[in-house]
Amino acid sequence: MKQISCVIRPEKLDAVTEALNKEHVVGMTVSDVRGFGRQKGKVEHYRGDAYTIRFIQKVKIDIVVQDQDEEKVMTAISEAARTGNVGDGKIFITSVSNAMRIRTGEKGTSAL
Ligand SMILES: Nc1ncnc2c1ncn2[C@@H]1O[C@H](COP(=O)(O)OP(=O)(O)OP(=O)(O)O)[C@@H](O)[C@H]1O
Ligand SMILES: [Mg+2]
Repeated sequence: MKQISCVIRPEKLDAVTEALNKEHVVGMTVSDVRGFGRQKGKVEHYRGDAYTIRFIQKVKIDIVVQDQDEEKVMTAISEAARTGNVGDGKIFITSVSNAMRIRTGEKGTSAL
């Protein structure tokens, strides 16, 4: 199993959720997060003073999928989340060694 974690623009959540639904993703966790990438938070000018916004509001989505679904889910997320401007976000993949559906005790991919 693979965990696909992506950080996206909050306004892209609906489009990404719809795209994931089309790929028959059965579950996901969504969190409100703040972060920065290469630009380290954009510099803005306010009343003549330059200041740095260190953290920008983003949405994080965590999905655990079967190994064979990794590529199609990555593609679906990236196509739905892309604007072409800086700050579109990132996708990270990690291996998941096990899972359990607590209600039934099912383990592994049966728990997804
Ligand atoms: N290396 C990283 N580790 C953890 N989170 C990251 C990392 N890079 C980016 N993020 C998260 O993704 C969000 C969006 O990053 P962003 O899209 O700005 O990345 P970038 O590398 O600066 O690319 P771009 O140049 O397209 O803006 C950040 O606000 C942060 O929450
Ligand atoms: Mg950036």
